[in-house]
Amino acid sequence: MTAKVNCRLGVLVSGSGTNLQAIIDHIESGGIAATIACVISNKPDAYALTRAANHGIPVVIHENRNFSDRNEYDKATVEILRKHDVELVVLAGFMRILTDTMVNAFPNAIMNIHPALLPSFPGLHAQQQALDYGVRYSGCTVHFVDNGTDTGPIILQSVVPVEQDDTEESLSAKIQKEEHRVFPAAIKLFAEGKIQVNGRRVRISP
Ligand code: GRF
Repeated sequence: MTAKVNCRLGVLVSGSGTNLQAIIDHIESGGIAATIACVISNKPDAYALTRAANHGIPVVIHENRNFSDRNEYDKATVEILRKHDVELVVLAGFMRILTDTMVNAFPNAIMNIHPALLPSFPGLHAQQQALDYGVRYSGCTVHFVDNGTDTGPIILQSVVPVEQDDTEESLSAKIQKEEHRVFPAAIKLFAEGKIQVNGRRVRISP
């Protein structure tokens, strides 16, 4: 893959947007040669929208309740992303499962961050799943999105220890700290053209 001159990102959000903020901060400090072309939220009250607006980033409120089915919603999402010439789609706390319409429109160009060490604990409440299972280590995973749920090729992972007295909140906080480091790092690798996907395996050029 060749390096993008100034990689255009489309960031999809549903919530508070701390990962979005970390990405914005890395771009603004010159750490990533990318532009956030648009932030799209399916929730009109997502705080992530305020964060984007604070930095002059175009926002689109794209509510799923206005669409009869998931496929139609995703078709419209693809149109918005195309209109903004997006090269990499970033799921930063976007609380919806994508249909094949979205996934096939951006092959190996949709990144998600998951708050567990995949393939362990996919789906919702990953931190609580990890606590309930009794693992000694958890963490986060940045992966490309494929047609499954949290099953795509893994780009980067970061590990955090699980302490005896950790709660869902305390473990989530430790994991989020790592998310804010590895998600921008993975985006940077993509923007620099350093990621190659071979089946399930991701090769990162030095
Ligand atoms: C993160 O914990 C991420 O792992 C999950 O959704 C959460 C989003 O948090 N996919 P934020 O909106 O970026 O603060």
